Amino acid sequence: MLSQQIRTEFLNFFEQHGHLRVPSAPLIPRDDPSLLLVSAGMVPFKAYFLGQKVAPQDRLTSCQKAFRATDIDEVGDLSHDTFFEMLGNFSFGAYFKAEAIAYAFELLTRNFGLDPARLYPSVHPSDETSVQLWEKVAGIPAERISRLEENFWQAGPTGPCGVDSEIYFDLGERFGSGQGERPGQGERYLEIWNLVFMDSEQLTDGSTVPLAHPGVDTGMGLERMAMVLQGCDSIFDTDLFAPIQEDFAGRASKLAEQPGDQGARHLRRLSDHARAACMLIADGVVPSNEGRGYVLRRLLRRASVSALSLGVEGGLAPCVSTVVAVLGETYSELASGAERVRAVIEQEEVRFEETLSRGLEHFEEVLASAEGGTIAGSAAFRLHDTFGFPLEVTEDLASARGVEIDREGVERLLKVQREQARASRTISLAGTAETDLPPTEFVGYDQLEASGQVRLLLRQGQPLDRAGAGEEVEVVLDVSPFYAEGGGQVGDRGALTWGDGSALVLDTRAPQAGARVQHCRVLEGELRQGQDVRATVDREHRAGCAAHHSATHLLNAALHHRLGEGVIQRGSLVSAERATFDFSWPHPLSEY
Ligand code: ALA
Repeated sequence: MLSQQIRTEFLNFFEQHGHLRVPSAPLIPRDDPSLLLVSAGMVPFKAYFLGQKVAPQDRLTSCQKAFRATDIDEVGDLSHDTFFEMLGNFSFGAYFKAEAIAYAFELLTRNFGLDPARLYPSVHPSDETSVQLWEKVAGIPAERISRLEENFWQAGPTGPCGVDSEIYFDLGERFGSGQGERPGQGERYLEIWNLVFMDSEQLTDGSTVPLAHPGVDTGMGLERMAMVLQGCDSIFDTDLFAPIQEDFAGRASKLAEQPGDQGARHLRRLSDHARAACMLIADGVVPSNEGRGYVLRRLLRRASVSALSLGVEGGLAPCVSTVVAVLGETYSELASGAERVRAVIEQEEVRFEETLSRGLEHFEEVLASAEGGTIAGSAAFRLHDTFGFPLEVTEDLASARGVEIDREGVERLLKVQREQARASRTISLAGTAETDLPPTEFVGYDQLEASGQVRLLLRQGQPLDRAGAGEEVEVVLDVSPFYAEGGGQVGDRGALTWGDGSALVLDTRAPQAGARVQHCRVLEGELRQGQDVRATVDREHRAGCAAHHSATHLLNAALHHRLGEGVIQRGSLVSAERATFDFSWPHPLSEY
C-alpha cells in the first residue's frame, strides 16, 4: 500500500467514525514557547485537552508534520529519522480507552489487513482496564500484553499527559536477535501506534491534577506503517524515502569506495536530513545560529558532510524536486515554496563550503599540535565554536590521519556553553517563570496610570517581605498599566509611588500567561508586600515604542508589496529609540 493510500485510509476511517479531519499545522508551534518544533500530532491541540479552548468538534483526526531532533546523531542507522508524519485520532471528552482500542484494532486488522496474531500491545503496569479491554475487544490474551513502566506520555515538561498503550507489530524472526526479546526491546517488535489516555495535567512544579474531561491522543508513525505494509526492511526503503536515496546514489561518484556500511549510512542520513530540511524551510525556518534555525543549519551541514564524503555531484539542492515529488502533493506549501527552499539550501551550502575551507587551515594547525595521537577537547571545541567547523568533520578528517579527538572534553565544554547561554537569558527575571505568580489585571491599553497593590515581591525567584532604597526587585501588582515585553517590543518603563517612597520601573515582562512582573529599583522609602501604590507609565517611552511598532508594520507591508509573499518576518526589536526588523528573502535585494 502506497503511503498516500495509508494516509487516506486512516483519515477516511476516522471521518467515517465521526471525526473531523483537520489539516496539518505548520512545524513551527503557534503560541507554545515550551517547544522548538511540533513534535507530535497532539501539539496543536494541547489547549483542547486542557479545556482552555473548545475544539471545533470533540473528535478530530489529522496527519501532522512532526520533527524530533533528540536522535539526530543516530540518523544513518536503519530506524532513526528526524522529520516524520504522525497520523492520529483525538477525543476531547468524547470517548476513552474502550473506543480507542476498538478503533485501532479494527483499522489495523480490517482496513490495513494486518494479522492479529502479529500484534502485541503494551500497557502501563497500573492500567489493568486496558489489559481487559484488549482481551475483550480484540481477543488478545493477557499473556501477549507487556506491562511497561515507560508507557506514559507527555508532550513536554508541562501539559496534558497520561498512561498509554502501544501497539507493536512482530516483523518476524528475521529481525530478532534470537534471544527471545519482547516488545519494547530490540528490533523484532516495531511500535506502530501509540494510544495515549490523557487524564492529567502536569504542572510547572512537577505535580499533576486530573483533567476535567479525559481524552485520547494517538499517534501512528506513517513511515513505520509504510515499512510494514510495503514489506520493507527499513523505513528508508519505503516510497517516502527510496526516491530521495536513489537521487543521491545516482549522483554519488564515491559511493562504491565507502568501507563497510558507510555508503548506506550516508545515503540514509542524506535522505532524512534533506527531506527534513525541505519541510522546515517550506514552513519558514531559515538557517541561523540559534533555536530552530540552528536545528536546520545542523541538518544541512551534516547532510553536506555526507554529500562531500560520497562525492555527490551538485550537492544537496538538486534533491528538492525529488522531495517535492514525494511530499508536494500532500503538503502544498512545499510544492509552492520549492524555489525558495532550493535557494535557501544552495545559499547555506555555499556558506558552509566557505566555512570548511577556512576551517581547514586551522584544522592543520590543530593537527600539528595534537599530542599522543589525540586532539585536545579545547582545540576541537574552538574549531567548532569560533570557526563553525562541525565536530563530525573534525573527527572524520582526524581519523583519516590516524588521530582521535577528545570527545568527552568537547562535550564538557559544550555543556558549559549551554549553561552560560541559559543563565544569560534568565538574568533579570530569574526564577519568575518557575514561581506561581498571582494574576495581574492589565489596564494599560486605555490608561497610563493606575492604583494597585503589591501582591508579590521577588528576588531571584525568592519571595521577600520588603525592599529598601537602592535594591532591585521584581514586583507583581494586582492591577497594572505597564505593557509587558512581547512580540519584539520592549516592556514599559515608569514609576511606582506610595506615601514616602518611590521606585523606578526599569522593565516589564510577562513570564507566565496572565501574570506580569515589573523589574524595579527602589529609590526612596521601603516597598512592602501589600503596599498600595500609584503606577505611572513613562509616556514618552510608550509613545516612542508605539511609533516604532507602527513603523515595523509599515515596513513589513511595504516588503510584501514589493517582493511578494516569500518575505518572512524573522523578528523585530521595537524600543522607544529605534526599531530593527529582520526578514528572510532568498535573493539579494537590488539597490533601490
Ligand atoms: N502523542 C503520542 C506520541 O507522540 C501519541 O507518541
